[in-house]
Amino acid sequence: MKDELLELKSRALKELESVSERPDIEELRQRYLGRKGLLILLLKKLVELPKEERPAIGKLANQVKEDLIRKFQSVSDSLTTKDLEDVSVLDVTLPGRRIPLGHLHPITKITEEICNIFVKLGFRVVQGPEVELDYYNFEALNMPKEHPARDMQDTFYISDNVVLRTHTSPMQIRIMEKTSPPVSIVAPGKVYRPDSDISHTPMFHQVEGLLVDKGVSFGDLKGTLTTFVHQMFGPGIDLRFRPSFFPFTEPSAEVDIRCVVCQGKGCRVCSHTGWLEILGSGMVDPEVFKIVGYDLESVSGFAFGMGVERIAMLKSGLDDIRLFFENDIRFLQQF
Ligand code: PHE
Repeated sequence: MKDELLELKSRALKELESVSERPDIEELRQRYLGRKGLLILLLKKLVELPKEERPAIGKLANQVKEDLIRKFQSVSDSLTTKDLEDVSVLDVTLPGRRIPLGHLHPITKITEEICNIFVKLGFRVVQGPEVELDYYNFEALNMPKEHPARDMQDTFYISDNVVLRTHTSPMQIRIMEKTSPPVSIVAPGKVYRPDSDISHTPMFHQVEGLLVDKGVSFGDLKGTLTTFVHQMFGPGIDLRFRPSFFPFTEPSAEVDIRCVVCQGKGCRVCSHTGWLEILGSGMVDPEVFKIVGYDLESVSGFAFGMGVERIAMLKSGLDDIRLFFENDIRFLQQF
């Protein structure tokens, strides 16, 4: 049996020398060392030996097994090293794989576009809280508690004195409170109203504007907003200032642009009026100046506020505002 063991070992080593592919080596290993391999088969005959010979043969068998395991291992290790050295399989001239990059949300893009137009006109960009005191959202904007003008803006209340801001106008007060004139700012951000349908989402975006200085007139308001509309929608676009009401501006005007869908002929989008409303504006009401402690005799100013989604929809011809916030990547990728 001793001879048989040594014979098995030398046969295995010899055969191992003649193979060079990984699968062949594995097959050989199974044949000799596997659970039903030649070595196991041979060891089954151990019981047939006289008792006193068994320990020595058993020891030899273990030795043979260990030697073979080590040899198989070193052959397959050297194969791995050879693979690694064989770098010619790497083509370093292939172009790299591009990592897919995202981009800004369309609403963020339009917000930036709007702000950039005003920055070029000398306005500064400021931001403020979305959870706002009733005082800044209403009271200081000349809307005392119980004032019917509050009904124009349905409101999420956090508590009696805290709301989710319904517009960006509270930024007018916050800025005037801590700066003396001249002031020229735009304030982009999220606003909230409990509304939800094809043209309303409970959260949407506005950009507020405020300019206060000596001798600011309604002409300055018209000039500034006309420049804005022409930059945003193209120099040829018609616009009109329509008298309106806001408690914090006097006089007030809403700005309409000629319908971009029907060019003014009248269609579903413009409710057959030929015009589309894009923003609210007006001269800062003297009551507001009083509240922030500005001198009514020496300064005047104008303010405006626009809906970002509305402008984005008009620019891209969309008719459902909810698409912006469903986060469908197929929609967002188009911007
Ligand atoms: N805050 C007003 C709104 O959301 C818009 C506005 C802003 C009007 C500034 C006049 C001046 O409807």
